[in-house]
Amino acid sequence: METVVLVIGANGQLGSVLTESLIQKFGKNNVIASDLNPRKEYEGIFEVIDATNIDRIQEVVTQYKVTQIYHLAAILSAKGEETPLRTWDINMQTLFNVLEVSRKNTIEKVFYPSSIAVFGEGAPLDKTPNNAYLDPATVYGISKASGENWAQYYFMRYGLDVRSIRYPGVIGYQSLPGGGTTDYAVDIYHKAVLEEKFNCFLKEDAMLPMIFMEDAIRATIELMDAPKEDIKVRTSYNIAGISFSPAEVVAEIRTLYPEFEVIYTPDFRQEIASRWPNSIDDSTACKDWGWKPEFDLKSITTTMIQKLKEKYRTTSKTSIL
Ligand code: SER
Repeated sequence: METVVLVIGANGQLGSVLTESLIQKFGKNNVIASDLNPRKEYEGIFEVIDATNIDRIQEVVTQYKVTQIYHLAAILSAKGEETPLRTWDINMQTLFNVLEVSRKNTIEKVFYPSSIAVFGEGAPLDKTPNNAYLDPATVYGISKASGENWAQYYFMRYGLDVRSIRYPGVIGYQSLPGGGTTDYAVDIYHKAVLEEKFNCFLKEDAMLPMIFMEDAIRATIELMDAPKEDIKVRTSYNIAGISFSPAEVVAEIRTLYPEFEVIYTPDFRQEIASRWPNSIDDSTACKDWGWKPEFDLKSITTTMIQKLKEKYRTTSKTSIL
């Protein structure tokens, strides 16, 4: 059977880049991108889907004979705190819809992203293990911790092959994040390249796990490609990239932009960050499906600056930000 992939949340930070990689892998006619709104200048197959509407997901699955679903739509940590109950409803309803459609249509594989936001005060801050106690303090984290367990439930109860990764903060030049606590680590590079002052909403020593987009995408594809019997964790896998604080990324940026100015005005997102791990133990993912990150802070910084410079040279600021 030919693989046909449906990406839900394809306009997002990760979704937009992952869609391109899936097209490379499966071909343009076998990847259906979908989101709440059409994507500008997108040349592949695109369907508008509100994933809270199960009938609409079913319609697209039937129309294209979808065999895999990547469910990337969610309201993230910082944004989620504005409307906790709505965030819970959206994050859970969309997941239930995907799981139900997948089970009923014998979808071959489902990808469900989780996050470092599942960890809270009950987990060690350093080298947080895969099986640490989960007591998340944000509604986003609560929805992801629950979602992981639902993923495992559908695997155990119905044999649905759901696979999941707990992403650290994702840093990429291709797209902008929205509504997260780790978003500063993308914004900071844009400000550096624009030679503008950066106002950081976290404290300078707020150490958080991060991962470069290329690594995050490769992890996703490798996990989804791994033989089924190698996937021993059916909640979600920790993956690590690197860990750094705002002060460390500033120091690295200053090797290229010595004048780069930063002020720190921590807000409620600092509270969220303070309960998340400093670093992640990803040895389970390494052992089960061979995960290994490639990018460190230096290579991330060099690539971000170079790519963003090119982008701002050829595109207007307003269409990027
Ligand atoms: N990057 C996300 C956030 O900050 C974490 O998964 O909410």
